[in-house]
Amino acid sequence: MIYLDNAATSWPKPPTVVQAVADFIKRGCANPGRSAHAMARMADEAVMHTREIIAGFFNISNPLRIVFMPNTTYALNTAIQGIINPGDHVVTTMMEHNSILRPLSTLEKAGIIQIDYIEPDKFGRITIQSIKKTVTKSTSVLCMTHSSNVTGAIMPVAEAGKHCRANGVLFLVDSAQSAGIVPIDVENMCIDILAFPGHKGLLGLQGTGGLYVRENVPIRPLVQGGTGSFSDSLTQPDIFPDVLESGTLNVPGIAGLGKAVQYIIDTGISNIFLKKQQLLRMLMEGIEKESNITVYSPIPEANSGILAFNIENMDSSEVGYLLDKRFGVCVRSGLHCAPLAHRSLGTRDRGMVRISPGFFNDENEIDLTVKALQGIARGSYR
Ligand code: ALA
Repeated sequence: MIYLDNAATSWPKPPTVVQAVADFIKRGCANPGRSAHAMARMADEAVMHTREIIAGFFNISNPLRIVFMPNTTYALNTAIQGIINPGDHVVTTMMEHNSILRPLSTLEKAGIIQIDYIEPDKFGRITIQSIKKTVTKSTSVLCMTHSSNVTGAIMPVAEAGKHCRANGVLFLVDSAQSAGIVPIDVENMCIDILAFPGHKGLLGLQGTGGLYVRENVPIRPLVQGGTGSFSDSLTQPDIFPDVLESGTLNVPGIAGLGKAVQYIIDTGISNIFLKKQQLLRMLMEGIEKESNITVYSPIPEANSGILAFNIENMDSSEVGYLLDKRFGVCVRSGLHCAPLAHRSLGTRDRGMVRISPGFFNDENEIDLTVKALQGIARGSYR
């Protein structure tokens, strides 16, 4: 089996991550922040350690502003429902995932906010010029992805952040496809709120992820409950991370996430990005002579690691099916939970095939995939 679906979730995980999760469960997996016994304190330390590693990785000065959550969707919903107010003008892009589009659209349909959507170019790229044109002093929030989950296009987040900061606009970034692949510096990029997954580029387990909220950004909790703090009060504490972190955490997953991010730091994020670019280049060069293949992804240097394409007169699901059944190549096909991206790129009817190599793939696997694609495109398997 050749796993090339890392944009959905990364696989395999570094051995240190697997080991850390197993060790944690074996050694004692108590509930952090509640009881005061030794095993609970050990869990507390594991969670704090991961907060600190992630803070360093994203250049966040206060680790307590990082809140652990089960996934990016949960983090984005918390952010959108927690910072947006009635009457707000919100700007987003056509390239967003449904985890931004659906909560925003619900608020718009209820007459609570007004939304402007920025159109991409033919590779799904959002230009800084179009951001500057749409985000004005009367905008409250810009919600955008750092990299498209459909085409892999990397967006001009640092420039967008500077524009937002200069105009008093809150900047919410979805790093679902970029965290662990493209460097993120919340200070330099003027990011006010960052939603991140643990299980994609960060190489941790599913069920991990989180939200960073800059100091002095007011946010209401989406979920309220037990935090282990101020337990006599009927009111949700307003301190971080407690305000947004109710309920028992995925502590083994968080312990593994700390090791995963440490693995990325030790490997060097630029080496990870370079390897992905190299594999992507091999894929792109391998199919460029097939005149019946349309590529929707930008060049590897401007791409977080996705080759999105279609083969003329074939449904994307048929290509995905053949890759899986005949060659054991795992990719995603169809629509990718980003409906407006498919509208902008003209693929609403048949979706796209999405190949997303990971750091642990090798050239041999890519070579076999290229040969499979050439065969499918030339009609050998129909
Ligand atoms: N959001 C993930 C993807 O794009 C699951 O496949």
